Amino acid sequence: MYDEIIAKAFEALKNAYAPYSGYHVGACVRCRDGRYFLGANIENASYGATSCAERNAIFSCYSNGYRKKDVEMIAIVSDGERIGTPCGICRQVLSELMPSDVPVVLSNGKETLVTNMQELLPMAFDSEDLIR
Ligand code: THU
Repeated sequence: MYDEIIAKAFEALKNAYAPYSGYHVGACVRCRDGRYFLGANIENASYGATSCAERNAIFSCYSNGYRKKDVEMIAIVSDGERIGTPCGICRQVLSELMPSDVPVVLSNGKETLVTNMQELLPMAFDSEDLIR
């Protein structure tokens, strides 16, 4: 069921630029109209300037005019020993830019876990919190 999106995320992983950590991540967003957007982690010698794979994928999706309601699922894959889950910054970003109940498919090629943003970031800070 998730084989295709996982395969595309592994294609994206091949483009990871990770000379510092050596940890490669790929992501693929699938939109409801069938379009896919890929991202890989892109590191920087100024480590904090690194951009994660899933953020690059969802930003590419939005950069092409798609919005929250259009996102059907995301796959995030890595080459670690265990399944990698999104970092805290990515959880914050994805919880705003994706529906909270759509599949977030995580895989390291050996194991796969399907979750969603509600599970990954309960009680998220969001736009409602800015109302004064
Ligand atoms: N990384 C991601 O691409 N996504 C995550 O959610 C976790 C971390 C990347 C950032 C960095 O290039 C490397 O993995 C190690 O932290």
